[in-house]
Amino acid sequence: MERLCITGGQPLHGTLTTSGSKNAALPIMAASILADEPVRLEGVPRLTDVSTLADILRSLGMSVSRLENGDLDLASLDSIAVDSLPVRADYELVSRMRAGFCVLGPLLARRGRAVVSLPGGCAIGDRPVDLHLAALAALGAELKVEHGYVVARAKRLVGAELQLSGPRGPTVTGTANVLCAAVMARGESVLHGAAIEPEVVDLGGFLGAMGARIEGLGTPTIRVEGVEQLGGARYRIIPDRIEAATLLLAIAITGGRATVDGLVPQHIDAVLAALECTGCHIDTTPASVCLTGAQRPRAQDICAKPYPGIPTDIQAQWMAYLSLAQGRSTIRDEVFPGRFMHVAELKRLSARIETPVTSAGDGRVVVEGVKRLAGATVTATDLRASAALALAGLAADGETIVRDVYHLDRGYERLDAKLVKLGADIRRQP
Ligand code: EPU
Repeated sequence: MERLCITGGQPLHGTLTTSGSKNAALPIMAASILADEPVRLEGVPRLTDVSTLADILRSLGMSVSRLENGDLDLASLDSIAVDSLPVRADYELVSRMRAGFCVLGPLLARRGRAVVSLPGGCAIGDRPVDLHLAALAALGAELKVEHGYVVARAKRLVGAELQLSGPRGPTVTGTANVLCAAVMARGESVLHGAAIEPEVVDLGGFLGAMGARIEGLGTPTIRVEGVEQLGGARYRIIPDRIEAATLLLAIAITGGRATVDGLVPQHIDAVLAALECTGCHIDTTPASVCLTGAQRPRAQDICAKPYPGIPTDIQAQWMAYLSLAQGRSTIRDEVFPGRFMHVAELKRLSARIETPVTSAGDGRVVVEGVKRLAGATVTATDLRASAALALAGLAADGETIVRDVYHLDRGYERLDAKLVKLGADIRRQP
């Protein structure tokens, strides 16, 4: 298992470019099941999760190939009639990556049947799919759960009023799944409580490019007029706002000065505002952010929320940063209240973090900033936790070893190589 060996203390300088968005690319790749003609996607990042989804799509009778220029070509094998294309997405692949569940809506809409493994839990908590299933049932799908699989069938879905929000807010991949089903349903569907994340808007843009009729993207109420057929499309994926925010926090934690370009700054407005509150200086252009870190950040209370709030996918990286702040910060996560597996590992680097007993389970931890972190060996438990540990290592005294780096490679396009480009001292070891 590869590991990162990080010697802390180098302020980051220079310029980096953001890769394409993982969480936009995955549902868009799944949505290409709907297309009757080939699809070409630009800006799909090279990630393990992208390879895993490509394997799932291949197992469903699609061809997926990466061109020399990095574009991704996807097409259904047109030698096979739609009726006889496979419809089963196996546990072995879907359990590796929850976004595999995004094939359910497209399969049901285009092939009339789907047998998709329930994704199961993961390191960030129990992650139900009840909202996906209830909305697909409201569109007229017959659904049952058998032996760990969702078995679904629908001759032709029929437009309906749908609800995509639960007690923790809107579901992002649920909105994606249901949107992909509704675009081919007969008549009008209204998605209430829909996710407004830029990745969902991007999926809607892709579906529109294939001929879908959608209004209200980026608002909680999306109206869809179903169509009989969708064509192919050539489409560019948006930049990854989570990667961009991770890079900016890396610059900030080292007290460096560097520019991240090729991003959409409005997508991370909440992150930029909170970074300024900690004392960072930020200059933005329409497609870049230059960040100058504070000598020592000021403490800041952070609450991860659905878009346009601070994303849960950047909560762990904030915790690494604030563990060096002057004063006490409170960090809450309203989306995944138990997403704190990184706390124990950050403590190994001498961070002072408490989970108040009274608030156990309410998604809140208290970070008492320290002047210095001290390098140690730590183990990544999930994608964003591993990024947080790498960031902490950049600022810690001495050497930090981050084990199980495959988590990082699931969702970041060689984050370590990008940080090295900015002057970080990181080596990847087998
Ligand atoms: N929820 C339900 N019922 C459902 C679905 C979700 O109660 O049927 C709850 C969840 O338990 C959670 C909240 O609703 O408390 C939001 O979950 P959501 O469904 O939005 O999460 P997701 O779609 O499974 C995507 C991203 C995650 C990101 C979340 C929140 C992809 C492929 N994944 O997951 O990304 O954390 O939205 O923004 O888009 C990551 O990239 O590291 C990652 C975990």
